[in-house]
Amino acid sequence: MCGIFAYLNHLTPKTRKEVLDFLVNGLKRLEYRGYDSAGIAVDSADGRNVSIIKKNGKVQALQDEIYSREADLAFEATADCHVGIAHTRWATHGTPSERNAHPQRSDEDNTFCLVHNGIITNYKDIKLFLTKKGHTFESETDTEIIAKLMMHIYKKNPNDTFQEIVEQCIQQLEGAFALCIKSKLFPGECVATRRGSPLLVAIKTKTRLATDHIPILYGKDLVTSLDFRPHGGTAAETLTAASLMPRTPSTAEFQPMEEDKQVEYFFASDASAVIEHTNRVIFLEDDDVAAVKDGTLSIHRIRRNMDDPHAREITTIKMEIQQIMKGNYSFFMQKEIFEQPESVVNTMRGRVNFDTQSIVLGGIKEYIPEIKRCRRLMLIACGTSYHSAVATRQLLEELTELPVMVELASDFLDRNTPVFRDDVCFFISQSGETADTLMALRYCKNRGALIVGVTNTVGSSICRESHCGVHINAGPEIGVASTKAYTSQFISLVMFGMVMSEDRISLQQRRRDIMKGLQQLEEQIKEVLKLDSKVQELAKDLYQNKSLLIMGRGYNFATCMEGALKVKELTYMHSEGIMAGELKHGPLALVDETMPVIMIVMRDPVYTKCMNALQQVTARQGQPILICEKGDKDTQEFASRVLEVPHTVDCLQGILTVIPLQLLSYHIAVLKGCNVDCPRNLAKSVTVE
Ligand code: G6P
Repeated sequence: MCGIFAYLNHLTPKTRKEVLDFLVNGLKRLEYRGYDSAGIAVDSADGRNVSIIKKNGKVQALQDEIYSREADLAFEATADCHVGIAHTRWATHGTPSERNAHPQRSDEDNTFCLVHNGIITNYKDIKLFLTKKGHTFESETDTEIIAKLMMHIYKKNPNDTFQEIVEQCIQQLEGAFALCIKSKLFPGECVATRRGSPLLVAIKTKTRLATDHIPILYGKDLVTSLDFRPHGGTAAETLTAASLMPRTPSTAEFQPMEEDKQVEYFFASDASAVIEHTNRVIFLEDDDVAAVKDGTLSIHRIRRNMDDPHAREITTIKMEIQQIMKGNYSFFMQKEIFEQPESVVNTMRGRVNFDTQSIVLGGIKEYIPEIKRCRRLMLIACGTSYHSAVATRQLLEELTELPVMVELASDFLDRNTPVFRDDVCFFISQSGETADTLMALRYCKNRGALIVGVTNTVGSSICRESHCGVHINAGPEIGVASTKAYTSQFISLVMFGMVMSEDRISLQQRRRDIMKGLQQLEEQIKEVLKLDSKVQELAKDLYQNKSLLIMGRGYNFATCMEGALKVKELTYMHSEGIMAGELKHGPLALVDETMPVIMIVMRDPVYTKCMNALQQVTARQGQPILICEKGDKDTQEFASRVLEVPHTVDCLQGILTVIPLQLLSYHIAVLKGCNVDCPRNLAKSVTVE
């Protein structure tokens, strides 16, 4: 979804150019999240006002605009203390345009400027209320009402602190948000808060931080109630002055040590934007209000729930800067496809012991006895993550002997699916922030099910809200189209099945075969990647077609769906993953000598059935392109072109068959001149329902 980045330097002199570069580079790191427009707010050159610069299109367009205004923005002037906020947008309310881009502002003087991720669901009511109070609106966004509401609250309580204004404001908001706010009235201060959308604060000091925790300051409810009368009527207002309980003393705040007052803070929706500056971060929780004033960070909450911790931990993130750089690759997606020999090993690292043939998943170890007693497993996810569940369902049914339901999170919620206390629900998500998946998680948690998170993002909402889980450890995935996360999710679920079947005598041989398969994966993926130039040639034949069918069944049906999704999202070409068993029930009507068809035929239990399908296609003059096992000459006889992958155990074959399709979608996208890393209309992390 959208990306937030903000930078505050306190007693750390920086030229204005440096500040602007930090903001723009921060946005570039986040661009994969959303990318239809971008903007920043910084102090004006004279330091007395706030300048907002916004541009439609990619961050590069914003950077060009900033550089074209070099003199105006006083690039060479130095600021000891400064706050800049920045945003890259993926439109939800209102078309992509400069007017709708963020920062949004409270008034023409830019008194409050803010950047927002998420959706405010009651924005219409608030807008009506504010309109009646005389505010006029300049954008079609839900975000603008937040800035105007802050202005309204400030006018009512001009003595409130910046943080108090924000606290009162967010109490009126419904929906999801991560916000970073800058105000002309509070120079050198920045306030950030979240509910339902991720946000972190990163801290950079010259010397080691003196503390690992930021205590939380609690206040009494601020007495602000605005009656929006959602369903008509006059918007009446009962806004009284904020009355605050005295807060915990200021020693509870994070103050840089006396000898080191120089401090820099970064606010971001994603750790990849801050890692080049510092690895010390605090992941904010819902309803935290983080405020920096005079170089001091404090975290406030209105009220304390019984099980809330008293402090937020400053964690050290382990991400390396190289991990988020493209290196010698042209696109992140290409890099991520080629990283798979490594990323699959990282998923297994420290968990699979090939010598003792055992697997330990530290994050769920203690829950295994409970999981073994459950009534059924439910795997719930969206997009590619959903396909990883489809890919492993059959194996999980075999190894756990439990019923396994695989669900698309949105549909699962639409159906109000019955969930029971003795269900175990897996939530699979690369980002750990996908709104539909998160909503489904909360739905299941409320019904007492055990919640297992399978994510790639440490500290994400799904991680935090799960009872236990598995980090897939694939490393940051920047390309919007998921590739290495898919294969790592696949392996994580296989490992789970292995753990569940550890003491099953009848499955020992099967387990040994799977272990052997896991051990060979790294080399076999390297071998599949050697198909790259052959796949590129194939892409040249296919890229001008309108449609592409991908057929298979059994363990490889998920590969068909995932391959078709990759083709669709990257190349905008119609593509369908077809269950070969359904061929004669409809899709066969599409087949003729012109329709491109890819078929996956492996020497697995459904081989004969796949061969039938293959013959049905060739009998209709279809010219199937085959993905099959290396050296399988009998099968290849029926194909117009062949991509051979090494043989592995049936249940892991899908990891090897999906890679040629990842490569194919990549090459078609390049040939068609599509933006590989940022396909149109899509976002990496969909934090809205
Ligand atoms: C978006 C992305 C997909 C992704 C899906 C689920 O739609 O474009 O590539 O598979 O979200 O994301 P998650 O982070 O939950 O795996």
